[in-house]
Amino acid sequence: MTTFGPGFLWGAATSSYQIEGAVAEDGRGPSIWDTFCATPGKVDGGDTGEVAADHYHRYPEDVAIMRSLGLGAYRFSVAWPRVQPLGSGAVDQRGLDFYSRLVDTLLDNGIQPWPTLYHWDLPQPLEDAGGWPERDTALRFAEYAAVVHDALSDRVTHWTTLNEPWCSAFLGYATGRHAPGRQDPAAAVRAAHHLLLAHGLAARALPGGRVGVTLNLTEVTPVSQTEEDLDAARRIDGMQNRIFLDPVLLAEYPEDVLRDLAPVTGFEHVQEGDLKTIAAPIDFLGVNYYSPVLAGHGTVPRPSAYVGSEHVVQHDGGRPRTSIGWEIDARGLSGLLIRLNRDYPEIPLYVTENGAAFDDEVHDASRIAYLDGHLRACADAMAAGVPLKGYFAWSLLDNFEWSYGYAQRFGLVHVDYATQRRTLKDSARWYADKIRGSAL
Ligand code: FCB
Repeated sequence: MTTFGPGFLWGAATSSYQIEGAVAEDGRGPSIWDTFCATPGKVDGGDTGEVAADHYHRYPEDVAIMRSLGLGAYRFSVAWPRVQPLGSGAVDQRGLDFYSRLVDTLLDNGIQPWPTLYHWDLPQPLEDAGGWPERDTALRFAEYAAVVHDALSDRVTHWTTLNEPWCSAFLGYATGRHAPGRQDPAAAVRAAHHLLLAHGLAARALPGGRVGVTLNLTEVTPVSQTEEDLDAARRIDGMQNRIFLDPVLLAEYPEDVLRDLAPVTGFEHVQEGDLKTIAAPIDFLGVNYYSPVLAGHGTVPRPSAYVGSEHVVQHDGGRPRTSIGWEIDARGLSGLLIRLNRDYPEIPLYVTENGAAFDDEVHDASRIAYLDGHLRACADAMAAGVPLKGYFAWSLLDNFEWSYGYAQRFGLVHVDYATQRRTLKDSARWYADKIRGSAL
């Protein structure tokens, strides 16, 4: 039997735009995802987050489900456009009140609230003013963080600044697969820096709490030992992992990444003192892991997410895939956690997202197998000395899976979007069992 110990935090995760719906209620302003969804051809099936899982109205039922599963913590995100509909200045108390009620309900049910301040729903007026490629957006984020902190810090102890800045920067501004859908590689690199700066400034604006950031990290291996493939692996590791890890944890950009990006930008947007701000001490690192990368030299259709390295590609590792097409390899997770602990020692880690999309509705043996394999990988990493403190399954509920719309279901709990009926999948019952025993 594999045990995790009594202190291990068992959770599940969601994000505001993916579950809340109620996009025009209680003063919420438009976000870049509302605009993106309304643009024909951007989201499969023309789906939008307008109603989503209607969590804005059904949160008491959802918290009751969490309690029935025995969750120790719930990771959700705060929608900036509910709190500041224009992205700066005026605060809408009704938006803050929603999160305040949610936090109270969680605490009443013995569940720790784990808010993330930014899970991709940038207020549209800030994008209209230039978005993340503009430095001002980072300053606005710090103000917003302070507003949420004032409202919730009497009850919230663990704060996450950003979710997956890689996606915000490189899918949002380089490939255009995510909102705001721009295809401007140099702007994407500036966006990455200003997201990092936003994290560092916000970390300062959250005194008294435990603060972390969630990155989507992966294990990158070369498809062969040729010089070209080794270089491809180095470049992807640089652009996916180290471009965020090194500034936050080592107060520097990796030399090789700066070199790779030299044809795209001279990094004139980095100001004196920025890296010190970005490397503000944090209490934990959130790791989102779904799939490993097998890297090699090749030709990709432009625009690539690997800005400055447009000749590198992901190879097919020949492993089974989930329904969204992501390869399944739990060993990639243990390898990643061990590597993080080696290269960035001592920082406590949490897996803040891990899970799988499968078409099977309620009898989801494949999801159970995925979760079981990845939790075993967590246990292996812990046995190897990694300070892994908790695990959040993605996701509590089926929800709006960004550009894939509602077709991809990641939930432990099935949502019938026509009736909003929630049904526990087998994986939810399985997870509850594991939590109860704190063991696999
Ligand atoms: C991550 C996102 C999350 C969800 C999962 C499947 O990249 O953080 O919102 O979409 O992927």
